[in-house]
Amino acid sequence: MSTDAVGRAYPRLEGREKVTGTARYAVEYPVDGVTYGWAVPSAVVRGRITRVDTTRALASPGVLAVLHHGNAPRIAPSQQTELWLLQEPAVHYRGQYVAVVVATSLEAAREGARLVRIDYDTGPHSTVLTDDHPGLYKPDHVNPSYPTDTAEGDFDAGYAAAPVRVDATYRTPAYHNNPMEPHATTAQWRDGRLLVHDSNQGASSVRATLAELFELPPESVRVVAQHVGGGFGSKGYAKAAVVLAALAARHVDRPVRLALTRQQLFGPVGYRTPTIQRVRLAADTDGRLTAICHDAISQTSTIHEFAEQTAVYTRSMYAAPHRRTTHRLVRLDVPTPFWMRAPGECPGAYALESAMDELAVAVGIDPVELRIRNDTDVDPDQGRPFTSRNLVACLREGAQRFGWTGRDPSPRSRRDGRWLIGTGVAGSSYPARARPSSATATARPDGSFLVRVNATDIGTGARTAIWQVAADALGVPPERVEIRIGDSALPTAPVAGGSMGTSSWSWAVIRAAQALREKLRDGVPPTGEVTAEADTTEEVGSQPALPRYAYGAQFVEVRVDADTGEVRLNRMLGVFAAGRVVNPTTARSQLIGGMTMGLSMALHEEGLLDERYGDWVNHDLATYHITGCADVESIEAYWLDERDDELNPAAVKGIGEIGIVGAAAAVANAVHHATGVRIRELPIRLDKLI
Ligand code: MOS
Repeated sequence: MSTDAVGRAYPRLEGREKVTGTARYAVEYPVDGVTYGWAVPSAVVRGRITRVDTTRALASPGVLAVLHHGNAPRIAPSQQTELWLLQEPAVHYRGQYVAVVVATSLEAAREGARLVRIDYDTGPHSTVLTDDHPGLYKPDHVNPSYPTDTAEGDFDAGYAAAPVRVDATYRTPAYHNNPMEPHATTAQWRDGRLLVHDSNQGASSVRATLAELFELPPESVRVVAQHVGGGFGSKGYAKAAVVLAALAARHVDRPVRLALTRQQLFGPVGYRTPTIQRVRLAADTDGRLTAICHDAISQTSTIHEFAEQTAVYTRSMYAAPHRRTTHRLVRLDVPTPFWMRAPGECPGAYALESAMDELAVAVGIDPVELRIRNDTDVDPDQGRPFTSRNLVACLREGAQRFGWTGRDPSPRSRRDGRWLIGTGVAGSSYPARARPSSATATARPDGSFLVRVNATDIGTGARTAIWQVAADALGVPPERVEIRIGDSALPTAPVAGGSMGTSSWSWAVIRAAQALREKLRDGVPPTGEVTAEADTTEEVGSQPALPRYAYGAQFVEVRVDADTGEVRLNRMLGVFAAGRVVNPTTARSQLIGGMTMGLSMALHEEGLLDERYGDWVNHDLATYHITGCADVESIEAYWLDERDDELNPAAVKGIGEIGIVGAAAAVANAVHHATGVRIRELPIRLDKLI
């Protein structure tokens, strides 16, 4: 494969359409006779609907229908229990969608929703995660299929015998996925077939779920997701909006557009579970780890089990002879938590990389050096060598670029007027995986090529990256290649998630391109097209199970107002080792986006739940704070030129999530260095510092 296009900084193919507003999102397609849906959330936490009074709503101008459990079309029960909407009077969490109003305009639908009256019988509820909750249990496995607990050596004995020990408990709150575009769908039924334009991270997967729910053959469902305004994991599977829109469109026998409001995103579409994490580290006096234990507690709902793999990061990051990790879960009367950028690794790394900083202080060793001393070529979890592990190289290059050398480790040692200055570091890692995909490549008589794969570009630049890979695989300039993604009518492909979009889709694209070149040995017939297809199911499935990870090192400088405790960020700098980087422009954007989101987690974001209401009280962007551009004065991302031949044909490791991993710990560690105060409960608000 030539490398002319891969590695070059092409602007996004759809960039012009996006900035000029001509790129169409799910509810922007012109559709004849379209109507508007408005979701009605439950006002109670747990209970039963006893009566739905639609009289006033139906009398309101423009309102066509009110769907609820008493009249909505039936859908099949599915494993996705939270999608079994409008089927039963039971309410499992506050905010569960219990009705949909359909009207001829958005305003009429909204007004109709206000006029629907629902009575409930309610019962007691439990919505707050605690480490002594009587409902704590051990799930069978954690997301997606990791063992729940691991143990090697004898942690208790190793820990007790060590000269240096850290025992710290870290808490993270609920974090809410807030893509710019909400979950939104335009649904149309034609002759028993369902067409949806939907905002999601994987149209093939949404099609499969809709086919199951509506008991249709998959070929009777088409899901189009041309442009998607973000997801951060919350659109990784079909969610409520697409189901409600499809139900409503069937009920009124007209196309229905339904977009959730910003407030309606806080909970029912998934969120990052709160965690309570106890980390115990033991080391010898040289800082070599002898025992590591990470016990993680998180929550799920009463209707579906999502067990976040919070402690999995700790299984492979640093070596020690005695190691243990555990996960415990509580079923609460809450919406089901779900993926949010690096689910598991992100909160887990916050705890472990904070504890490593505490260990560095306890043993009196520089935190960069401490991590270098505990590096390992062999995955402590699998017992096999990593295909490549460049954590140390990231730490060294980061330290050099950041100007780490000569740092005075004592807290409160730097001051600039009223500002206390501190620096912090954290390691970062994220698995490099791939899933089976299919794709086709077509040669056209005019010398151009068409590549088709149902990938999804959720704003990452994925479309452009696969186009670059395709051009090199076809051995032609990218200008001659047309790429089609974002439609379930295209060859089936996995979701944009787990940082494995590009690795998975490009694998199939490269194989299709190779097959096409094989077919074209004798040239393109002047009369027509030649198409080759590829399906990587077998090849991906037979890949040896080696430990494959991307790595990073995150460096942060903060300043903290000595009187008010206000934390500001001077600098954030990350160095990553993520295999081959396909497009420096979009890669940088992914990495600094992840780092910014980690900063947001450290300082700003916090879902505040009020047990009396059983819901988050700050459910909008005025009260749920998210880091903005002005909060990051300087942010830099670099990467190593890493070659790893044991990954996938494009040699990529994935970059969507690694940027967030460790970032919050680096901020917290810098705050400790600045102030001497160790905050173990995010976010780091000023009231916790003074
Ligand atoms: Mo990402 S949270 O794996 O969609």
